[in-house]
Amino acid sequence: MRYRWRLLILSVGWAFLACFCSRMAVAECPTSRIADTQALAKRDGSGYAHRQKADFLLDRLDIWPGDQVLDLGAGDGWWTEHLAKKVGSEGTVYAAEVNAALVERLQKRFAETSQVKAYLCPPDKPGLPENSVDLVFISAVYHHLNKETRIQYWRELANVVRPTGRVAILETYPALAVKGKDHGTQLSKLIDEAEQGGWVPVEIWYLPGTQHYLAIFVQQKAFFEQQSPFGGR
Ligand SMILES: C[S@@+](CC[C@H](N)C(=O)[O-])C[C@H]1O[C@@H](n2cnc3c(N)ncnc32)[C@H](O)[C@@H]1O
Repeated sequence: MRYRWRLLILSVGWAFLACFCSRMAVAECPTSRIADTQALAKRDGSGYAHRQKADFLLDRLDIWPGDQVLDLGAGDGWWTEHLAKKVGSEGTVYAAEVNAALVERLQKRFAETSQVKAYLCPPDKPGLPENSVDLVFISAVYHHLNKETRIQYWRELANVVRPTGRVAILETYPALAVKGKDHGTQLSKLIDEAEQGGWVPVEIWYLPGTQHYLAIFVQQKAFFEQQSPFGGR
């Protein structure tokens, strides 16, 4: 009898733990279900609303200490600072800018942060050595790249990014924008250009409450064993 009681208490305990864990998993996993019909209609059209989602975005980037990250079109360095924390003192964040005055500002801002290297980049390529970075982060910059040569830009990214590396694009979604439609890139256009340049989207996140998306790409060649950058494993 005593044994039965013990068994019962143990089973209830396990059931409680399993239920608790699955609820935790559900709570952490974003859902696309529209529970509130007005939820998607409420969004901040300002240029910076997506920055409120910085923790979520940085988690999606899955940056490891020691990583080599390129912040292309770093601007005032708002993202550079977050990226620098993620790569740590063993890693590097290359803060690329086409605007010389911004490069100077970035160099001053990060003078004490040894892992940040701000530099003046050419407009048609990142200007870093081959296979030198694990991740390229491109926030609110893609629509600034020359529309005539964007497919070639993806090919340039493939030179600079290691075979195991990724490109992450954070952009305004014009189809959903309530402000500044021209400061963004249609997702279909982005994917089409990336595919023509040899890249494949592996994660796409819409950021609720904003008009932005995050799209993460890997190189198409990573999918083919005979050309596998991982040595055909
Ligand atoms: C809207 S700001 C975004 C700044 C920053 N990435 C952010 O999200 O806060 C766009 C920046 O991209 C830079 N830019 C434009 N064309 C570029 C290119 N071809 N290569 C690198 N940076 C570029 C501009 O100088 C500008 O600072």
